[in-house]
Parts: sequence; C-alpha cells; structure tokens
Amino acid sequence: MRAIQVSRFGAEDVLVPTDLPLPEPAAGQVRVRLHAAGVNPADTYVRTGQYAFFTPPLPYTPGFDGAGVVDAVGPGVTSAAPGDRVFVSALGRSTGTYAEYVVADEPDVQPLPDSLSYAQGAAVGVPCATAWRALFQKAALQPGETVLIHGASGGVGIPATQLARDAGATVIGTAGTCAGADLVLAAGAHHVLDHTSPGYLDKLAALAPAVVVEMLADVNLAKDLEIIAPRGRIVVVGSRGSLDFTPRLTMRKEATIHGTALWNATAEESATALRAIGAKLRSGVLHPMVGTELPLDAAQEAHRRVLAPGSLGKMVLNTA
Ligand SMILES: NC(=O)c1ccc[n+]([C@@H]2O[C@H](COP(=O)([O-])OP(=O)(O)OC[C@H]3O[C@@H](n4cnc5c(N)ncnc54)[C@H](OP(=O)(O)O)[C@@H]3O)[C@@H](O)[C@H]2O)c1
Repeated sequence: MRAIQVSRFGAEDVLVPTDLPLPEPAAGQVRVRLHAAGVNPADTYVRTGQYAFFTPPLPYTPGFDGAGVVDAVGPGVTSAAPGDRVFVSALGRSTGTYAEYVVADEPDVQPLPDSLSYAQGAAVGVPCATAWRALFQKAALQPGETVLIHGASGGVGIPATQLARDAGATVIGTAGTCAGADLVLAAGAHHVLDHTSPGYLDKLAALAPAVVVEMLADVNLAKDLEIIAPRGRIVVVGSRGSLDFTPRLTMRKEATIHGTALWNATAEESATALRAIGAKLRSGVLHPMVGTELPLDAAQEAHRRVLAPGSLGKMVLNTA
C-alpha cells in the first residue's frame, strides 16, 4: 500500500511517500481502506520527536484521523463489518492514517453518516473531540452563556463553534482572513472578529464572554483575562510559546484557566465524547468543513501549510 513513512525525526522532508506491506488486523482490530486522512498541527509536533505527549517508535506512519470503508476485521470484532463507511479517531493507537489502509482498535472506528463525505469524516477525530472536551468537559458551557472561540476558523474552531451554538450559547468566533470569517459565520457564530486587527477585542466591552476557548494562548491569554466576564473560564487548547503574564489578572475576575490536552482524557471521557460526537454528526449539528485537500504524496506541503495563517476549516490528505 502507498503510505507516508517517517524513519527519522526532523523537518517536513522526513515525510517520505513509500510502499509498505498491508497491515493485518489482530483480534479486536479493524482494517479500513482510507479515502482521506486528517492533518492535525500535532502531526507536525510528533514529526520533530520533541512533542511532550507522544513519541512513536521509528519508523512510523503519521496520522490519527481518517475515513473510509472497512476492508477486514480481526477475530471478535462485532461493531464493524467489511463495506461499512466509517471514520477513524485513534490518537496514537493505530498504524497511522497517512496511508491507503489503517489498522485501528474497534472502539476507534465509528460509523460515518451517509450525509458526510470521507473528507468530512477525516475532519472528525482530534478536532471534534478537542472541541467537545474544551466546551463541555472543561468549561462546562451552559445555555445562555457567551463564548469566545479564539481561533474559530481552523480544524478545532469550526466544530467548537457548531457545538457551542447548538448548546444555546451566544458564540463569538475569530478568524484572520475574510474567507475564514465567512466560514465562522456559516458554522453558526453570532459575531465574528478579526484577530489580526488592532484592538479587535475592544468590541467585546458589551459582550464579555463567560467562556473563552483559546487556540493561541501565548499571544492571547492576558487579553482574554482582560475581557472575560467575572468568574469566567478560559480553556487553553493551543499555545506555541510563552508570554509575560501578570497573575493578578486572574484575581480581579476570579477567572479560572483550564489547560486541556486530548492525551489526558480518560477512556470514559473519550468514549463519552465519541458518543456525543456521533449523535451530533447524525443530527447534522456537527458538519465538518474541509478547506484544503491535498494528495497523500503531498504530506510535506500539508505540514508546511497546516501551521500557516489563513485556516479554512480542516486540511485533509486524499488517500484513495
Ligand atoms: N489541547 C489539545 O488537545 C489540542 C487538540 C487539537 C489541537 N490543539 C492545538 O490547538 C490549536 C488549534 O488547532 P487546529 O487544529 O484548529 O489548528 P488549525 O486548523 O491550524 O487552526 C488554527 C487556528 O488558530 C487561529 N489563529 C491564528 N492566529 C491567531 C491569533 N492571534 N489568535 C487566535 N487564533 C489565531 C487560526 O486563524 P486564522 O488562520 O484564520 O488566522 C485558526 O483558526 C493548535 O495549536 C493545535 O496544536 C490542541
């Protein structure tokens, strides 16, 4: 099968398209003929070998998320059968989705509603689980509250916007381009702000958010504490550096800062999130938005582009 293989940690050029033997499903495992693989920023961190949460043994095939058709099942598998349309959400637990085929554990392979494309299915795993965890398992978002999705135009931000709107919140999203802003509004945000525009958060004076879902904390955390409502909750989802931070800011509002990483979710939390996400996909509340689609062999370009500004929902690799 065609797959991307990484034989040493490093820059994008370690992502090498190659031909590998077809992986065989063991007991309790499912093999999926993938049509699309999700590209997550975390894939680029793993590739460096310096990621705090996960260092795979070399060589490895990247990719946690994907979608396709079940092709074979191992002994004991009951919830999936050959021919089923499925999405794969297998954080660090599969043979890697940057490939024509992946073998994953049965619970990590879930039905893909007929209304969704394979590319949309590849956008579900990490992004939707992270959005669910941030909004409900960390911030405990309540109907009627105002939430700022700080970085709403990307893979996590779009499902966070859709889920928050569905939960009865007033949703403010941010984006860095006009096209991204349009996407955020299409995802259901009541208001959209441009996070590249000086003083853009001043507009929130009359609409202080009770919850902030933060995609770039090293840039925004101090600003979030200025604009958040008293006793507000900030969930740090993404951060790519450090900042000079005044702890007193937390005292004035009695604000709570939650850090979150999907890697810390318990099996029960992951299963709960996956059940909820499945229901929201079936009801249409979650409708993944795919921006950039690239061929599997363009994984190097995908890793460059996923870290660049101008997100338009989810980036996927076409694997079929
Ligand atoms: N904690 C976890 O478990 C977890 C899970 C998944 C992802 N993450 C992290 O969360 C972050 C977002 O992931 P993703 O998959 O959504 O990435 P993505 O698709 O690349 O999207 C990045 C988002 O950040 C926005 N952004 C850029 N500059 C910003 C700024 N100054 N203020 C606020 N937002 C800004 C982008 O907007 P524009 O492009 O429109 O400027 C875009 O909406 C990444 O750092 C990722 O590593 C963490």
